[in-house]
Amino acid sequence: MTIPDSFHVLLVDDDATFRKALSRALDRRDHRVEAAGAGSEALTLADHEDFDAAILDLKMPGMDGIELMHELRSRHADLPVVILTGHGTIPSAIEAIQAGAYDYLQKPCEVAEVEITLKNAVRQRQLMTENRQLREAIRLGTPYEGIVGESQPIRDVVELIEKTKDSWSPVLIQGESGTGKELVARALHSRSSRASRPFVTVNCAGLKPELLENELFGHIEGAFTGALRSKSGLFEVADQGTLFIDEVADMDLTVQASLLRVVESGVFRPLGSTREKEVRVRIVAAANRDLHQAVLDGKFRQDLLYRLEVVHVLVPPLRDRQDDIPLMVQHYLETSRDAKEKGIALSPDALHLLRHYRWPGNVRELFHVLERAILLCEEKNLSARDLDAVLRPRFRPASPEEPKDPLTLEDSEKQHIRRMLEREGGNVSRVSEILGIDRRTLQRKMKRYGLR
Ligand SMILES: Nc1ncnc2c1ncn2[C@@H]1O[C@H](COP(=O)(O)OP(=O)(O)OP(=O)(O)O)[C@@H](O)[C@H]1O
Ligand SMILES: [Mg+2]
Repeated sequence: MTIPDSFHVLLVDDDATFRKALSRALDRRDHRVEAAGAGSEALTLADHEDFDAAILDLKMPGMDGIELMHELRSRHADLPVVILTGHGTIPSAIEAIQAGAYDYLQKPCEVAEVEITLKNAVRQRQLMTENRQLREAIRLGTPYEGIVGESQPIRDVVELIEKTKDSWSPVLIQGESGTGKELVARALHSRSSRASRPFVTVNCAGLKPELLENELFGHIEGAFTGALRSKSGLFEVADQGTLFIDEVADMDLTVQASLLRVVESGVFRPLGSTREKEVRVRIVAAANRDLHQAVLDGKFRQDLLYRLEVVHVLVPPLRDRQDDIPLMVQHYLETSRDAKEKGIALSPDALHLLRHYRWPGNVRELFHVLERAILLCEEKNLSARDLDAVLRPRFRPASPEEPKDPLTLEDSEKQHIRRMLEREGGNVSRVSEILGIDRRTLQRKMKRYGLR
């Protein structure tokens, strides 16, 4: 969270001399002040402009400071109010705070003191607003920056984003393929004070070292044969914003050395140039492989890893947050055009299977499976069978040498039914109730899997 350096302030005091003096002093410090001599005038101003904070004199003829605060608050609930008191009115100032003022200042006051109080008030307001938004998002189940999920691991990820979004320290996002690393990187940017600055992506996979260096740092005219014009590197393009370095595990050791230098000192040299360039960029790197292992294998610089993982976000695999799967499915059905057009709903047994599948390709795979199943499905009701048809061919081992393939949907269903039957002492009605499928369907499945 960043607090701006200049505020838009509403100042209300019936004492014209004091009003002018404080307005001028704040103005000199780059704040914008609108001053009013009475409550009614202040209310009109507040209806037409957005203020960061209000400073109200306590004792005024007509509407006093506390009344005015209530009026202001009824229309602008989040506006922080600072009360000004003269000598000997401290008890009423305390009363004002109990009535919801952020703080009080005693006249005559130093402008520096006013400024600090304002800054704290604005900060508190921001915190309250953010907390409220977060609470509302959680309550309404609105995904946070498109990140669907309410499981603890996802909440931890969101909390970490919120805590670190405004820092310039590098971030390392690790997680299996398709877990949402890029989504997290984008959230870190769009929630930050850099949101209006560029978000630039570079993917290290499959790029030759020279090409990657050229992408990142650019070159000057004539740097190599064919370099007819100078070209800015992505670090320059991303200046003041975020550079998302995807698949960083694939970065060559020589490029890692140049990257380390920018991370440590903020400077780099375009290819062929003798002049250094300085940038301020938040680096967000992502990897779906274990970088500590890569260090042990001599493929990744340890010093770079230490630098990158100042903020370390671990995005959990989907199978570790099964409870999020129904939410993901619901989100998909609500956003997919095909699903909406066909009016698709999932049968309980389909949902059950989706929850218990291993999802080696995580959320991306889940969405693909749903997309294909919905495309092929001829009825409104998507059953486990429809899903099975989409899943099975993809996970049949390609050759006998590759028997380690993840469990098929059928395997997992079979296992689950068997476990349930054991637990319920073979009571078919009871198990069908638990699984949310009818008795006959269960019996058919038992027959197919040779279960009794
Ligand atoms: N928590 C989530 N909520 C909603 N959608 C998600 C979530 N996680 C991932 N997705 C979606 O899954 C897909 C894959 O996500 P993303 O590209 O961020 O994964 P990744 O971790 O970067 O994968 P890879 O390592 O393969 O690059 C995207 O369509 C993304 O929108
Ligand atoms: Mg990705």
